[in-house]
Amino acid sequence: MDSQFKKIAVIGSGTMGSGIALVLAKAGVEVNLVDIDQKFLDSGLNSIQRFLDSRKRKGKINDGEIKILKKNIHPHLNLKEATQDIQLVIEAITEDEKAKKKLFEKLELYCDNNVIFATNTSALKISDLASATKRPDKLIGMHFFNPPALMDLVEVIKGEETSDETITTIIALCKHLEKTPVLSREAPGFIVNRLLWMFLNESYKLLESGVAEKEHIDKAIKLGLNHPMGPFELSDYIGLDVMLNIGNYIKDQLGEQYEPAPLLKKMVKEGKLGKKAGIGFYDYKQ
Ligand code: NAI
Repeated sequence: MDSQFKKIAVIGSGTMGSGIALVLAKAGVEVNLVDIDQKFLDSGLNSIQRFLDSRKRKGKINDGEIKILKKNIHPHLNLKEATQDIQLVIEAITEDEKAKKKLFEKLELYCDNNVIFATNTSALKISDLASATKRPDKLIGMHFFNPPALMDLVEVIKGEETSDETITTIIALCKHLEKTPVLSREAPGFIVNRLLWMFLNESYKLLESGVAEKEHIDKAIKLGLNHPMGPFELSDYIGLDVMLNIGNYIKDQLGEQYEPAPLLKKMVKEGKLGKKAGIGFYDYKQ
């Protein structure tokens, strides 16, 4: 299927932005990848290179494919230049409502009226971000999962004023990218993070109350529910600070029953943030 999207600007070249750029480039879309500083752009491009190298080692991609794919990604520091002649913006900057709104205000000035604005926000309300633009009907959530190149799912999030036409167009794009879209209204945590939070938070409480050892809980979930990772392995992979932020946000929005477990708060305070810190529920230093 041919896509109406020939050129897309991805704003933010961090973990998610660089991964999303890769997904688009693989589908033959030209990508303008934007960040605020050359060092962040370089870091995004390096992580794309590392991913491609590892796929090549596994025999999943060849040099010719890598060359074509890399040719589709154009790094930019100038937002105005990067957003000319595009059909879609995918915003993947830091999870900060003020910063995202400021960016959308600029995009409103720079982009043609028909350009769709998608945000990869994990939690923020689409309608709040849309209020910074004059095109709330064209603002939509496109929530990829980490790493975007390997994870199949995209949660497509409808704001209060997102039009049916915008939803249909973005769902078609997800399919063109060989992703599986699911549609959700805007609600704290959308589908996956809301349910994930309840599951992981309950696991922390189970451990804290001495019901079972973490190794036994992880094993039980892997073998009993066929999950690829147990809750403590998964928490360490995601980052305990990331989970605490998600939990705090859901609790603030939905009430006390979502309050993060004391164990999680304590571990974050102690800097035991998971794999990236070398220690979380498990020790990764040896
Ligand atoms: P990150 O911190 O790795 O990358 C953010 C990038 O945005 C940085 O390179 C930063 O320099 C850049 N940036 C900040 N302000 C900018 C601006 N005004 N213009 C251009 N670039 C700017 O963050 P990450 O993890 O990639 O998250 C990005 C978004 O994706 C957030 O909204 C996050 O909630 C969401 N998300 C994150 C997931 C994850 O597992 N990390 C999963 C799904 C969504």
